[in-house]
Amino acid sequence: MITKVRKAVFPAAGLGTRFLPATKAQPKEMLPLVDKPLIQYGVEEALHSGVPNVIIVTGRGKTAIEDHFDVSFELEQMLESRHKSDLLKIVRSVSDMLNVAYVRQKEALGLGHAVLRARELVAHEPFAVILSDDVIHAEVPAVRQLLDVYDFYGASVVALMEVPKEAISAYGVVDAEPVSHNGEKDRLFRIRNMVEKPRPEDAPSNLAIIGRYILTPEIFDSIDAVEPGAGGEIQLTDALKHLLRSRPIYGYKFEGTRYDAGDKLGFLRATVEFALRRSDLGAEFREYLKSLAL
Ligand code: G1P
Repeated sequence: MITKVRKAVFPAAGLGTRFLPATKAQPKEMLPLVDKPLIQYGVEEALHSGVPNVIIVTGRGKTAIEDHFDVSFELEQMLESRHKSDLLKIVRSVSDMLNVAYVRQKEALGLGHAVLRARELVAHEPFAVILSDDVIHAEVPAVRQLLDVYDFYGASVVALMEVPKEAISAYGVVDAEPVSHNGEKDRLFRIRNMVEKPRPEDAPSNLAIIGRYILTPEIFDSIDAVEPGAGGEIQLTDALKHLLRSRPIYGYKFEGTRYDAGDKLGFLRATVEFALRRSDLGAEFREYLKSLAL
């Protein structure tokens, strides 16, 4: 029997140094794409994928995330007394949308280390991991696409994307063989090996891991077992490689557009494209962009 995925883990304890000084006094997960904080895009993706419980792994200086998903009593009262019912609805929907639990990662020792902090809250269940730096615009939410594979094979699944050789060293990279699935031959892969942040000449392929994972609970023992890897950190990729010895792992080239919002240029691209897609802003913003003498 395949156990349903009910929980999504959001590692959010990173220091956000790439966005200093904006992240000096606020978490990078709270930087807004148009008018929603980054992490809310990931949270909504989990909810729209049918995963109702969210576990956020936080650290020092991250209380704004907790406040964001909590009830803001004073703000609600003020909006109510001023009869701002539309705004009140928006504010309430953020706290109403999810069941959330928080756990602290006391030191930023790597993605694997962050995921391991959620062990007690996840318990012995399969779960999703969402890296909110990777924002994915897709008709079917990316996590849902991975869950469809998980529901079929009952094994761990990671999101994959083809990446140009010169950019490959920023990612976990897989060596994988295609598997036909749902009449398609080039989306699903069975992973043979993987390596975190290889040099371009050592990369086993151009298939990079993107920040969406469905993991079976055996991953926790594997995280426990691995030594610090790339950058001296406990890497999730190394734990997955360890898990490969005893379990199959799949990779799925999801359909959709991914933005690296952890990078300044990627963040700007996401901002422009999400603004253009908005029904309330898109048309005017498009006219403005066209008017720029570029
Ligand atoms: C993390 C993972 C890496 C993955 C990437 C996707 O790296 O360690 O395997 O390819 O996310 O965004 P980071 O971007 O945190 O360095």
